[in-house]
Amino acid sequence: MATTMQRAEAAEHAMSEELDRIVVKSVLYTSGERDPRVPAPRPPDQGKLYLMGHDPRLPKMPDKPTLFDFFRYRFGPSAHMLQSARLAQKNGTSEKVVLACLLHDIAIAGFIRSDHGYWSAQLLEPYVDEEVSWAIRYHQTLRFFADESVGYKYPEMYVKLFGADYVPEPHIQAAHRYAREHKWYMTSRLITVNDLYSFDPNAKVELEEFTDIVGRNFKQPTEGLGFDPSPTAHMWRTINWPTRYL
Ligand SMILES: [Fe+2]
Ligand SMILES: [Fe+2]
Repeated sequence: MATTMQRAEAAEHAMSEELDRIVVKSVLYTSGERDPRVPAPRPPDQGKLYLMGHDPRLPKMPDKPTLFDFFRYRFGPSAHMLQSARLAQKNGTSEKVVLACLLHDIAIAGFIRSDHGYWSAQLLEPYVDEEVSWAIRYHQTLRFFADESVGYKYPEMYVKLFGADYVPEPHIQAAHRYAREHKWYMTSRLITVNDLYSFDPNAKVELEEFTDIVGRNFKQPTEGLGFDPSPTAHMWRTINWPTRYL
């Protein structure tokens, strides 16, 4: 009897048969499901070329992709971020905070979940005000710590997700102590205050609602996100072309 894993591999194999090019997954995509130290199984070459660039299984992105194009073509459902941004706006926060809320979980939506605050911040750093990326970096840590002065409690959801006995690791405790004393602490804290899941389950928020705020506060590169010379452009390229061989 085929295991789920074998069935998944067979399906994947059939899929790659249909492709003109050979697709090899990065170690990080499968590490854990498989032991990364063991060589990954490879489809037979049969004179085929390896994929370099667009993966035909994905919607093609425009040649000069914008931030919104990544939301549309590469990110998973982003209602949570859109709702957070609208809530921040409703609460009368600054444009910086609204933007930070709109983008705070982009790593979860489209890149890497683990340490998502850091990855999100790094992706955005060259394109937003330093305060915005700083706030996004530390929201991940601050979510674990209550601040009664702004009515932020330890999330009930975290008890459900991680268990009542979860204690943030020492590096997270240290990051909290650091952030707590920082001049931008409250900017980051405001992300956590507005970081709610479906405050209104019926609210439908469109990306376009934030066109102006993004236009004023996000430095969209003319070459397209990923093809500019910024220090994190390669990360956007990888999201665009996640299966490129090199
Ligand atoms: Fe988050
Ligand atoms: Fe969030």
